[in-house]
Amino acid sequence: MFSSRTNWNTNLNRLAGLIVEKQLRGESILDLSESNPTRCGFSYPKQEIISSLTDESVLLYQPEPRGFHSARTAIADYYRALHVSVTPDQIVLTASTSEAYSFLFKLICNTNEEVIVPQPSYPLLDFLCQINDVKLLQYRLAYDGEWHIDFESLQSAFTSRTRAIILVHPNNPTGSYLKQNEFERVCALAAEHNCAIIADEVFQPYSFSHDTRRASILASQSSVLLFSLNGISKLLGLPQLKLSWIVVSGHPKQITKALNRLDIIADTFLSVNTPIQTAIPKLLCFASDIENQIRLRVQTNYKLLQKIFAGSNTSIFQIEGGWYAILQLPQIHSDDQWAEEIFTHQNVIVQPGHYYGIEQKSCIVLSLLPILDIFENAVIKMHKFIEKNSSYKNN
Ligand SMILES: Cc1ncc(COP(=O)(O)O)c(C=O)c1O
Repeated sequence: MFSSRTNWNTNLNRLAGLIVEKQLRGESILDLSESNPTRCGFSYPKQEIISSLTDESVLLYQPEPRGFHSARTAIADYYRALHVSVTPDQIVLTASTSEAYSFLFKLICNTNEEVIVPQPSYPLLDFLCQINDVKLLQYRLAYDGEWHIDFESLQSAFTSRTRAIILVHPNNPTGSYLKQNEFERVCALAAEHNCAIIADEVFQPYSFSHDTRRASILASQSSVLLFSLNGISKLLGLPQLKLSWIVVSGHPKQITKALNRLDIIADTFLSVNTPIQTAIPKLLCFASDIENQIRLRVQTNYKLLQKIFAGSNTSIFQIEGGWYAILQLPQIHSDDQWAEEIFTHQNVIVQPGHYYGIEQKSCIVLSLLPILDIFENAVIKMHKFIEKNSSYKNN
């Protein structure tokens, strides 16, 4: 009856089961996995957002595979302000970044061909590959106080069926940006193996510090076929309005071929709704305000986290950007056990590191997005619990 590609284990895992039980009992829970910006107390320009979505022109249906020219022009202008030269014709709108990945997998991969993704990284990539019948191979990110691509693992991942290398810049959850020298090596490998590069840049604005070594992926104007992904779920903190885009760059002949095919894929779905395409030129005017609020929140929470755990036997991984932090807890428990213990005894939700493919033992992942008071309260509770329990075990 059902396809084997959807033959997933749909049972709740133990942690999710415990969470549901406590929710049903009406217990108060502090969620350090919260990464929905619309629930994190940011001050959005409400009236402007609502009025931008209710323009009379939304009553007319004007299907355009690549999306409205006016919307794509506004996005090209956004890039121009960042000193990145992109034309509206290089841009294809999609309803989400996940949909953009799906379109690209359809564009470049036959069944069971491969893409190489970073590990650790964003778990949805696994599902996106599965539902598109694409095989996922991994390259390792190594940590030595800073995350780097392990080029040996990347080089050895290629086979004759590899079609793309995925870069997440900055990566979720490591918060690491590629350095320009790493990006150049990746481009050389992509050219050697006749592969495309898919660069997921959704967290790009959320940098913690300036770093001259950092890659400027789109601005590099590489001749390798490159698809840069971005969207308003992170850029404007508005995931519910469903707009993302693909910027196609590389050799002009390759760009044209890719766009002609993407037009047909996009035309088959026409999934981007009219109100958001009409609204995006206005909404992008608020990008820097919302970005600043989110950047301030994640940086403040990260500093607070460092302060609370200073001098403890938990280490916090250095991050360069993004919305997440990784903590390595005392290795007396696995990551799953720690997450369950913290939740059972403190009602604080954290995610075990293996959800993201973190190889280091006993790691948990936290979102840095929650409202300051909630974050501080949850981290203090978690810190006390970890200290008490690890010193008890050590004695
Ligand atoms: C690295 C990365 N890319 C893409 C997405 C999804 O973005 P969208 O909401 O546009 O599908 C996420 C969501 O958290 C993400 O972490």
